[in-house]
Amino acid sequence: MYLKSQCCFIVPPFIILISLIPFCFSSYSQEDPYFITSSNQNNNHKLTFAPLLDNQANAASTAPKLVNVDDYGAKGDGTDDSEAFNNAWKEFCSCKGSVLVVPDDRSYHLKPITFEGPCQSDLIFKIYGTIKASTKQLDYQEDRRHWLHFKNLENFSVEGGGTINGNGQKWWNDSCKINKSLVNFVMQAITFSDCTNLIVANLRIKNAQQMHLTFNKSVNVKASNLMVIAPGKSPNTDGIHVTETQNIHIQNCVIRTGDDCISIVSGSKNVKATNIICGPGHGISIGSLGSKNSEGNVSNVLVDGAKMSNTSNGVRIKTWQGGSGYAKNIIFQNIVMDNVTNPIIIDQNYCDQDEPCKEQPSAVQVSNVVYKNIQGTSASKEAITFDCSNTSPCQGISLQNVHLALEDAEHGSADGSCANVNLTSRGMVSPKCS
Ligand SMILES: *[C@@H]1O[C@H](CO)[C@@H](O)[C@H](O)[C@H]1NC(C)=O
Ligand SMILES: *[C@@H]1O[C@H](CO)[C@@H](O)[C@H](O)[C@H]1NC(C)=O
Ligand SMILES: *[C@@H]1O[C@H](CO)[C@@H](O)[C@H](O)[C@H]1NC(C)=O
Ligand SMILES: *[C@@H]1O[C@H](CO)[C@@H](O)[C@H](O)[C@H]1NC(C)=O
Ligand SMILES: *[C@@H]1O[C@H](CO)[C@@H](O)[C@H](O)[C@H]1NC(C)=O
Ligand SMILES: *[C@@H]1O[C@H](CO)[C@@H](O)[C@H](O)[C@H]1NC(C)=O
Ligand SMILES: *[C@@H]1O[C@H](CO)[C@@H](O)[C@H](O)[C@H]1NC(C)=O
Ligand SMILES: *[C@@H]1O[C@H](CO)[C@@H](O)[C@H](O)[C@H]1NC(C)=O
Repeated sequence: MYLKSQCCFIVPPFIILISLIPFCFSSYSQEDPYFITSSNQNNNHKLTFAPLLDNQANAASTAPKLVNVDDYGAKGDGTDDSEAFNNAWKEFCSCKGSVLVVPDDRSYHLKPITFEGPCQSDLIFKIYGTIKASTKQLDYQEDRRHWLHFKNLENFSVEGGGTINGNGQKWWNDSCKINKSLVNFVMQAITFSDCTNLIVANLRIKNAQQMHLTFNKSVNVKASNLMVIAPGKSPNTDGIHVTETQNIHIQNCVIRTGDDCISIVSGSKNVKATNIICGPGHGISIGSLGSKNSEGNVSNVLVDGAKMSNTSNGVRIKTWQGGSGYAKNIIFQNIVMDNVTNPIIIDQNYCDQDEPCKEQPSAVQVSNVVYKNIQGTSASKEAITFDCSNTSPCQGISLQNVHLALEDAEHGSADGSCANVNLTSRGMVSPKCS
């Protein structure tokens, strides 16, 4: 038992906070993360930044212990605050229901840091102010993949309305996509690994070194009311990356970055994204899967309610030749495309490398993909692309009420290009495969 006696204390019921956490998690579980349904017609693109934990308290007998990073020596004056955060974390972690506070109006600088559990349950990390990344490359020598790494936590939330700033400008200049002499590794600004019952809400995340927010090997995740922003030209700055994670709902997020707004990769299942505003960026992607002859599985994905503007892709599934596994049971619906280069695309010949990819017979199987109520404009003539493998064609692909016009209508109408796809169309569908 690591609950310390001085940790929590009895207070009158009107001081509440801790009781909100069980409320929160129970309301999430009632939402049934095991969807997949197409009955949800919610097409409201308006974002609401309502606080997740509102005054909904029932009677409580304990108050949260507040752990303020300032009380552990954090200065927020541009010097390194990592040690103070580490010490504050130890106290916070050991006390059930405690709240770690990063005060408003200051910028706290952190080197790469691991916020590691197991901790007590029902903890809230409240970021009101700003957390900024160290820009010294030397600080990243031990772990060149993670800046803020939250690990092995249960019943945990991060929120507060504050800002997490990856200070990525220097990284982008050094990126291997720009400087070919550098080795490729993907730096993740914020990562949650091995977490269960996690809420990440009401935050601004900007200018990540590379990927902004990664959910890795986690279960039961709610990510909502997030504003994720980086320049459209910043390399590899995916907004939200989901890997080996199950039962995740991403909702009410604005994502404007230089890579995928949302990317969902192998081992992910029951992924729901609703009310997403995306662009600039590379769109919402499943994959890539199957690189270097690997096996990759993604299933039960619902993207419902999205507005994509000026993105290079809209909704995309991408797999490498030579892979195995599957991408299946996927619904993309109620989506508005505004000047998107490849609004609807399945690419089973994905090849993101300098040398051309050689032809290989095996493929990641793509099946049961529904595109429903999708409209808007395409920046390129080819608005619909199904470039599937000839050895394992795409199965059960369905287009329902899809209308995509050419952005530049003076130059004619949009086309569809379809290879090796078992396609059904319902309602109005335009363009059709030519
Ligand atoms: C987390 O919350 C769930 C649901 O309230 C509860 O069943 C579980 O025991 C909690 N986990 C811990 C480590 O307290
Ligand atoms: C990145 O490169 C640009 C152009 O070369 C330069 O102007 C800028 O100062 C660099 N930024 C950083 C943080 O190194
Ligand atoms: C690319 O990276 C190498 C190795 O770190 C460095 O020596 C070189 O100056 C960089 N080039 C540019 C244009 O930044
Ligand atoms: C995922 O979590 C594991 C620890 O369980 C870690 O070794 C790995 O580096 C993490 N992957 C990513 C992409 O962060
Ligand atoms: C993919 O799914 C198949 C069939 O369910 C399973 O046998 C395989 O282990 C899974 N592979 C991975 C990498 O998860
Ligand atoms: C799309 O890009 C054009 C040209 O850069 C710009 O004028 C327009 O505001 C952008 N649209 C959105 C919604 O960002
Ligand atoms: C549409 O996108 C193209 C290519 O991304 C861009 O060049 C053009 O300015 C955009 N047009 C509008 C009206 O946003
Ligand atoms: C297309 O799917 C139908 C129904 O699943 C199946 O009967 C048919 O053989 C498939 N055609 C091809 C070319 O795969």
